Order: sequence, then structure tokens, then C-alpha cells
Amino acid sequence: MLLYVVEAVVPILAIQLVWAGRLALRKEKERHKRIAAIHASSMWASYLLVWGLIMLGQTMKGNAARWIVETHLVIIYIIPALLVFMMATGLKGIRKPHMALAALYVVLWSAALVTGAMIFLSHRGFI
Ligand code: HEM
Repeated sequence: MLLYVVEAVVPILAIQLVWAGRLALRKEKERHKRIAAIHASSMWASYLLVWGLIMLGQTMKGNAARWIVETHLVIIYIIPALLVFMMATGLKGIRKPHMALAALYVVLWSAALVTGAMIFLSHRGFI
């Protein structure tokens, strides 16, 4: 169950992030604000969903190396907090810190995606 939720949710979140980033780079600020806020809300909702499933005893056992799992976990604990600061700086129009946080966010998000994919592939026995 947890595996299917992650499989379904991650591509949606990735599309939202690319869309929000593209709008920001094209200086479409209002649309960027809307899509980025949807992305942030979807992120928090998916964290709650995954946390709820784990509380219900769901797991996704893989054979990925420990450093991969630990790197993934550290990153996914940082991301929700980072989103709070990004939302605050974005909505207050504090542009420079917002852009710095956005760059950090994209790097961390990509690292979470790569390590998550490695965990997923090891679960499926591909690596
Ligand atoms: C968490 C929710 C977010 C909200 C509510 C938000 C909101 C905003 C707002 C209102 C602005 C315009 C600031 C101004 O100049 O007055 C802005 C700018 C910007 N945002 Fe976000 N943002 C969010 C997340 C993100 C994310 C995830 C990225 C990266 C993909 C990002 C990248 C940028 C960039 C690069 C700009 C500068 C655009 C420019 O050159 O003017 N933001 N954001």
C-alpha cells in the first residue's frame, strides 16, 4: 500500500515543482505563487498520508544500502521545514533569501528523488 501511494504521489509532486519553478523563471509571479502553494500543501498532505500509513504498520522494506536510506530520511525531514520558510519569504516578497532557499530546495528535492528511486528499485529487486 505504502509503495503504491509513493508511486502515485511522487510524479504529481515532481510535475508541480517543475511547473512552479518554470513560472518563477518566466516571472509569472501570481501563477508561480498559486502553483507553489499547491505544491507545498500537497507535500505536507503526502507527508501526513505516509506518516499515517506507517503508524498503521505499513512498511516498504528494501535492500538499499544504509547510507542511501539515511540520506533519504535526513532530506525528507528537512524539506517540510524548508517549505515553511519558502512560503514565508515568497509571500513577504523577500526575494533573495527566497531564491536561495528555492535553489537549496530543488537540490534537496532532487537528491530525495534519486535516493528514493534507489530504495524503490531495491525493493523491486532491480538493484
Ligand atoms: C512554498 C511556496 C512558495 C510560495 C508561496 C512562493 C511565492 C513566491 C512569490 C510571491 C514570489 C514573488 C516575490 C516577489 O518578487 O515579490 C516568488 C518568487 C520566486 N520563487 Fe517562489 N514561492 C514558493 C516556492 C518556490 C519554489 C518551490 C521555487 C523553486 C522551484 C521558487 C522559486 C522562486 C523564484 C526563482 C522566484 C523569483 C522570481 C523572480 O525572478 O522574480 N518558489 N515566489
